[in-house]
This record gives sequence, C-alpha cells and structure tokens, in this order.
Amino acid sequence: MIEHSPVNIPVLLGTPRKGRQSDHVARWVLKKAEERKDIEPQLFDVRDFDLPADHYGMEIKDRFPEWRDAIIDADGLIVVTPEYNHGYPGTIKAVLDLLLKEYIHKAVGLVGVSAGPWGGTRVIESLVPAVRELGLAVTFTDLNFPKVGDKFDDEGNLLDDSFEKRADSFFDELVWMARTLRWGRENLDSEHH
Ligand SMILES: Cc1cc2nc3c(=O)[nH]c(=O)nc-3n(C[C@H](O)[C@H](O)[C@H](O)COP(=O)(O)O)c2cc1C
Repeated sequence: MIEHSPVNIPVLLGTPRKGRQSDHVARWVLKKAEERKDIEPQLFDVRDFDLPADHYGMEIKDRFPEWRDAIIDADGLIVVTPEYNHGYPGTIKAVLDLLLKEYIHKAVGLVGVSAGPWGGTRVIESLVPAVRELGLAVTFTDLNFPKVGDKFDDEGNLLDDSFEKRADSFFDELVWMARTLRWGRENLDSEHH
C-alpha cells in the first residue's frame, strides 16, 4: 500500500444567518475531521468574507488570500449548507465563485441542514450542478441533518449517536476520492492543471 499524507480539506460554513443551526453542524463536522489522522481540515465561515456589493467572482479573489491559498493547497472541500426554500444561500455561491481553476479535479462532500424532515437532500441536489461546473468531483455519501433544531444542545453537543457511523462513511468516501484525485493530479497529464 502507498503511504498517504493527510488530505487537506477546508470546511465551508455557508450561511451568515443570526442564530444559524448550521454553525453547530459545521463545528461538529470539523471536530470529527480533526479526530481523523487522514484529514487536515480548516474551517471557513462565510461571515468572514467581506464580499463587496459592487463586484463579484474571480477578479476579486486576491482580496481573499486565505481562501484562495487554502483551495490551492486543498485536496477536497466540505460544504455545509442549510436548505433555504429548497436552495442554498447565495453566500455559498458568492464564496465558491471567487475561484475556478483552483477547484479542478478535487473532491467535494456535501452536508445538508434543514428544519424539515429531509435533511437538506433537496439543497444538496441543487448544489451538485454548481460544484460540478467548478471542476469539483462530488462524493455520493452525503451527511444530512434533518430537524436540526432537535439534534444539538445549546453548547453544540450532538444528541444523536447515529451520526458517528454516518460521519465515518462520509469521511471515508471523501478521503478516498481526495486521495485518488490527488494521485491523478500529481501523476497524470491533464490540460486543466
Ligand atoms: C430563508 C429561509 C428559507 C428556508 N427554507 C427551508 C426549506 O425550504 N426547507 C426546510 O426544511 N427548512 C427551511 N428553512 C429552515 C432552515 O433549514 C433552518 O433554519 C435550519 O436550522 C438550517 O438553517 P440555519 O443554519 O440558518 O439555521 C429556511 C430558513 C430560511 C431562513
């Protein structure tokens, strides 16, 4: 077996909403990733991006050097998205759209959060075409947090043990994809990188 160094995986918390439950989810996902030897995660919060009202996209990427450099160094990405009217918050798209070629042939795992019973399955499906166009390769093992208001206590402790096993599957798949794509980027010719 090849010895693998850990994969670099930024975690994007996608909503700036006051009182956001996705904050608990993103911090729990970050903690679980930190516990693994095969992942080096880093949390990014859309609240920390001072997005201008008069510009958009790749032309302003150098205003966000931490995000730019983290994605250049990344092997994959985790997006934690709440479901807002069956879609994702525009803040996620605005942050993702800052970069383009930096994402190509890297893995992305999607985490859906909702007040309703479907755990963000609809928002995840709506995010797939957008991340695909960025060149990201989506894993098929999502993490879903339905009825998220019941899932955490006030300190952000997760009250449902069944998520441990699901998180293992989510991370195992993401790491496999991230490693495989890293090997491909490093060893195979491509006009894209
Ligand atoms: C504008 C808006 C639209 C929403 N639409 C939905 C929805 O379509 N389905 C759903 O289950 N919950 C919906 N919710 C509730 C969120 O899923 C809920 O707030 C959940 O806690 C995740 O979002 P949060 O991180 O902002 O808390 C909506 C919330 C907002 C603010």
